[in-house]
Amino acid sequence: MMNVAIMGYGTIGSGVAEVLEKNKEKIAKAAGQEIALKYVLDLREFPGNPIESKLIHDFSIIEQDPDVQIVVETMGGLKPAYAFVKACLLAGKHVVTSNKALVAAHGTELLEIAREKQRNFLFEASVGGGIPIIRPLSRCLMGEQIEAITGILNGTTNFILTKMDKEGWAFDAALKEAQRLGYAERNPEADVEGHDTCRKIAILTAMATGKEVNYEDIYTEGITRISATDFKYADKMGMSIKLAGASRMENGRVSAYVVPLMMNKEHPLYTVSDVFNGILVKGNMLGDSMFYGSGAGKLPTASAVAADIIDAAKHPDRNVAMGWSAEKQEISPMGANMFRYFIRVTGQPEERITELMAFGPREVVTLDKMDEFAIVSKPMHEYDFEEEVRRLDGVLKTIRVEL
Ligand code: HSE
Repeated sequence: MMNVAIMGYGTIGSGVAEVLEKNKEKIAKAAGQEIALKYVLDLREFPGNPIESKLIHDFSIIEQDPDVQIVVETMGGLKPAYAFVKACLLAGKHVVTSNKALVAAHGTELLEIAREKQRNFLFEASVGGGIPIIRPLSRCLMGEQIEAITGILNGTTNFILTKMDKEGWAFDAALKEAQRLGYAERNPEADVEGHDTCRKIAILTAMATGKEVNYEDIYTEGITRISATDFKYADKMGMSIKLAGASRMENGRVSAYVVPLMMNKEHPLYTVSDVFNGILVKGNMLGDSMFYGSGAGKLPTASAVAADIIDAAKHPDRNVAMGWSAEKQEISPMGANMFRYFIRVTGQPEERITELMAFGPREVVTLDKMDEFAIVSKPMHEYDFEEEVRRLDGVLKTIRVEL
């Protein structure tokens, strides 16, 4: 038998307790032994809850109990999660986490301690919720050179953008609904400003390159600038707008960014709607492979945590190679990347189109009764685009368009 402690009994932590109970037999069979929940650590009380008898408020009980072999961290954030997780690994326990902020900020060090201690630090649930993506990258695609990853990695923003796109909802109402459904982070800024996606693409890029990726090197833009009018233009062009976290690994150059991206109907991510996530991975031998599913929410995320618990239970005294090294991966500047650009300007096309020639317009779009129009540019390096757009008057909005 192996004992588990859950640190943080919020949405995900309570989901993990539920999965361990509901799938008890299946989990025991897969792990080759019973997996028992021994402690739940939380500051709060949960009167009448089935875990009440296991509830503790003092972390040192977990740290010092040699009968706890696997610790699940579902507290979120860095304080005190980082100190607790580090202490658990140093005490010779396996740690499973759903906390992308922790993995993106301290993954290198925590992976290193796990290797030294011959224990496992596992984080399948930190990216894509219930979608298998970390393990496929580290095992199934082990023989591939990963050339590109493009992901819709945040359920909350995808839910909001889908409501705006398909049902004309206002941004604030859609955000409130996402929070009510338990998708959003406590601080919605992490979702809507792209920080959550940034941590996730940093983790995926580190998995793909095998080197440490500093999330602060990743250019990040959220969705708060995107308006109903932008969606009207997108609709007219047969496109949608998604928040994409992407990385490209070509000819030794690695780029990574988080941006709202216009994509057309042929793009495999176009149909990824609502709270779902989708991750398109391009390998040099495999070509494209798409991972799709529930990217947020209590039980899907808890399901990924449960799989990591089983993995740890199956390798009690051995570190299974995964993750990345301490070598730092350089991320090339955003300006060196190439996109097409959607540019909304004031006026009418016949008055202004000559001013826009530097963008090599491939498409001109107008909306009824509006004293503005938009173009989609030729593919341009971001440096060149920025220089040209600075010279232009009456720019209302620019959005990158997938090449
Ligand atoms: N707030 C995150 C999302 C939760 O909406 O995707 C899962 O990481």
